This record gives sequence, C-alpha cells and structure tokens, in this order.
Amino acid sequence: MDLKGRNFITLKDFTPEEIGYLLELAEKLKADKKKGITGNSLKGKNIALIFEKPSTRTRCSFVVACVDEGGHPEYLGKDDIQLGHKESVEDTARVLGRLFDGIEFRGFKHSTVEALAKYAGVPVWNGLTDDYHPTQILADMLTMKEHFGYLKGLNFVYIGDGRNNMANSLMIGCSKMGINFTILAPKSLQPKEELTELCRGYAKEAGSTVTISDDVEDVKGADAVYTDVWCSMGEEDKAAERVALLKPYQVNKELMAKTGKDTTIFMHCLPAVKGNEVTEDVFESGQSVVFDEAENRMHTIKAVMVATLGD
Ligand code: CP
Ligand code: NVA
Repeated sequence: MDLKGRNFITLKDFTPEEIGYLLELAEKLKADKKKGITGNSLKGKNIALIFEKPSTRTRCSFVVACVDEGGHPEYLGKDDIQLGHKESVEDTARVLGRLFDGIEFRGFKHSTVEALAKYAGVPVWNGLTDDYHPTQILADMLTMKEHFGYLKGLNFVYIGDGRNNMANSLMIGCSKMGINFTILAPKSLQPKEELTELCRGYAKEAGSTVTISDDVEDVKGADAVYTDVWCSMGEEDKAAERVALLKPYQVNKELMAKTGKDTTIFMHCLPAVKGNEVTEDVFESGQSVVFDEAENRMHTIKAVMVATLGD
C-alpha cells in the first residue's frame, strides 16, 4: 500500500483498506517498540508541529514518534509564528513547506488545515480542528482491535456532544470500517444531516449501520461506550448550558448496566472532566481502556507519518 505524499486531513479521504493498512502498520511499529526496536524512516526529515490549541497526547505523540523514527520535530505554538495574524495561512504554508518535510496542525478552523495542505507541498496531518480529529480515531480503532480482536460488526455507542470533532470523526471511521455506530445526544447536539447521510453511505458499503437517537436506552447491546468532554476547546463559555443539557447523557454505572453486557468497554479520547461526561468509578473501572487509547495515539501517529513521509 503506497500512501507516500498523502495528507491526513479527515478519514473521508481514506478507503477502509487504507485505514486497515495504517492500523496494521501501527501494530507492527508498536510491537517493534516493545522489543526496543525503533526505525530510521524519518531520518533527515524535519517536522513542524503547529498548535493553536493546547495538547498533551497529540503533541507528545508526534514528538516521540518523530524522534523514534530519526526525525526532528519543531513545536510552533500559537504565539510563536505569524500564522493567520501577520501572515496569511497560504503564505505560512508555502514558507513552512520549503523548510519542513511534513506539517502537523492543531487548531480552530478546519479550513486552516485544508489551506495548509493545499499550499505547503508536503504532507499535512490534522492534529484536531473544530470539526475533525482523525488521528484519535486510528488510536481508538487500534485499541478496539487489540481488545476484541476484530472491528467489523462491533456495536459502538458515542454518547454526549454528538456534533463535535470526536463524534464527527468517529462516525466517519466506524462507518467506513463496518462498525455499527450510534450517537446518543439531545436533538440540539446531534451531527449535521449531510455528514450523517455520507456516513450512512459508507456504512451501507461496509455492511453496518449508523443510528442517531436521543434515547439513552439505545445504549443496549453496546460493545464500546465512548464519550468526550461536554465543552470542546474554544467553547468554554457554553459550560453551564451544556451541563444542563447533557446531564442525562452522563456515562455512569447505571448507563453502563443498560448495555446488558458485562464485557462492554469504556472509551474516552481524554482529557476527561470526571463528574461531567463520566463518573470517576466508570473511568477507573476494569472496563475502562482510556490509557490504552492514549498510548496508541503515539503508535498510530507514527504509522501515519511513516506511511505518508517515511523512507
Ligand atoms: N486526545 C487528545 O487529542 O488529547 P490532547 O488534547 O492532550 O492532545
Ligand atoms: N472534543 C475535544 C477533544 C479533545 C481531544 C476538544 O476539541 O476539545
């Protein structure tokens, strides 16, 4: 499978086979690293890491993955460069593209990462925008694959803010990979109809389903229950309104019991606000795989860089 030179902006741009290939590559890179074997595939490559928003997992994963493969990462925080302030995104993209071999972007507008990809002339990887968070989905899928041994046919329920970057990206990834995908969210926080219809098309091809509901009883049968913060970065002013709206959608013991299965896993991209979207007891329970997901960010991000840029 040749993904050299490709951008990684959303999973819409990747076939199920390509996503499967990235997961297999991540598995191999992870197994190697556990044996103390790292690679050289990014030797001589310089990687720009642009962060308009803060990050623990994504930033550290890009840095560690890059260094493991012999590359040089350069962190560019929101006050470090001119991007969008004194210089247009298009001009910054063309400058960074002359100096760096690959660019990661985390920030607000999705159009910024698209413009970087259009003008940089080197692979651009989306480390989260207001609309999508595709590298997280690879980590989540690797975690499910490790836990269950397979992806196709699993029942996956995302509960909470059903129109944020995580909900959007999980819907794309799960529907492409044949995972039955459900969003449980109040009507005002459900995904855009257009994206839902697109994903229903992917699901049809993969032989799975996409369900949108406001009824928490629809968690029944879930193999994985996933939630995310009720206020994403940049939406901090909405806290009170969201707590009132989403309280019935909290992942707690009662909600987990409604799955009717004692094998259901709990997932979260982190960081978590315990007491809001998830209770401490579920977060800390044996059902929780959140730190496997966090570790898998690094192995999957490494796979994306190696596949699109590595020698
Ligand atoms: N899950 C995730 O993207 O975490 P960070 O915000 O810490 O990068
Ligand atoms: N929806 C969250 C995800 C954080 C990884 C946010 O955008 O803040």
